Amino acid sequence: MFPDFSSARVLVVGGSSGIGLATAKAFAAHGAQVTIASRNADKVAAAVAEASAGARGTVQGAQIDTTRDDDVVRFFADGQPWDHVVVSAAQTPTGQVRKLPLADAYAAFDSKFWGAYRVARAVQIRDGGSLTLVSGFLATRPSKASVLQGAINAAVEAIARGLALELSPVRVNTVSPGLIATPLWDKLDATARQSMYDGAAASLPAKRVGQPEDVANAILYLAGTPFSTGSTVLVDGGGVIAG
Ligand SMILES: NC(=O)c1ccc[n+]([C@@H]2O[C@H](COP(=O)([O-])OP(=O)(O)OC[C@H]3O[C@@H](n4cnc5c(N)ncnc54)[C@H](OP(=O)(O)O)[C@@H]3O)[C@@H](O)[C@H]2O)c1
Repeated sequence: MFPDFSSARVLVVGGSSGIGLATAKAFAAHGAQVTIASRNADKVAAAVAEASAGARGTVQGAQIDTTRDDDVVRFFADGQPWDHVVVSAAQTPTGQVRKLPLADAYAAFDSKFWGAYRVARAVQIRDGGSLTLVSGFLATRPSKASVLQGAINAAVEAIARGLALELSPVRVNTVSPGLIATPLWDKLDATARQSMYDGAAASLPAKRVGQPEDVANAILYLAGTPFSTGSTVLVDGGGVIAG
C-alpha cells in the first residue's frame, strides 16, 4: 500500500509516454499534484488528459527538452521545491559500437545520462523528498547489439548512488526496467515487436512482458519509502536470473 501522496508536488520528466505516463497516472491516482513534462506539446496535452481521468490529485503539463542546458535552467528557474521528481526522459539511438555513428552515440548519452544530470543539477527537492532515475536491464545484462545503452544505464545508476550522498537528505534511487511494452518500441514493425514480446514472455521467469505500470509501481514504492535511497530496483520479470 502506497502512502497518501495528497498535496505532494510531483514532476515526471518524460511523463508524456510509456513508463513516465504510467508513473504520472499512478501518482495522480494517489492524490499528488502532478506535472508532466517533455518536449512535444501535443503529447504532453494528451498525457495530461489521460492522467486526469481517474486522478484524485491534479495534473498539469509543461515543456522541457533535457538535452538543452538553457531549457533545463529555465524550467527550474522559479526555485519552487518539488516533493518527488522522476526522470524517464530519453531518446537513445542504439546499435553495435563498430556500426553506430559516433554522433548518434554522443546523442544517446546526451539524452539519457546528461539529460538526467542536467535535471539533477538544477532541480530543487524538499528534504526527505526523492529523485528517481530510470536506467535499464542492459546495465547488468549486456547485449552485443546495444553495448552503449548498457554503459549509459550503468552510468545512470552510478550517478544516482553518488547523488544520494551529495543531495542527502533528498533521496535518490534508480529503477531498472526489463523489456517493457511502451511506445519506445513503435520503431519496430508490429510483427517484429510482437515477436520480441512473445520471446521475452516465453523466456522470462515472470512469463510475460513488462507493462509500464509495473515500473510505475516500483517508482511509487521508492518515492514513498523514507528509508530507500541509493538503491537500484530491478523490475525485469526475472531477466537477470534467467539463463
Ligand atoms: N521500454 C523498455 O523496454 C525499456 C527498457 C529498459 C529501459 N527503458 C528506459 O525507460 C525510460 C522510459 O522509456 P519508455 O519506454 O517509457 O519510452 P517512451 O515511451 O519513448 O517515452 C520516452 C519519454 O521521454 C520523453 N523525452 C524524450 N527525449 C526527451 C528530452 N530530450 N527532453 C524531455 N523529454 C524527452 C518523450 O516525450 P517527448 O517526445 O514529448 O519529448 C517521452 O515522454 C528510458 O530511459 C528507457 O531507456 C525502457
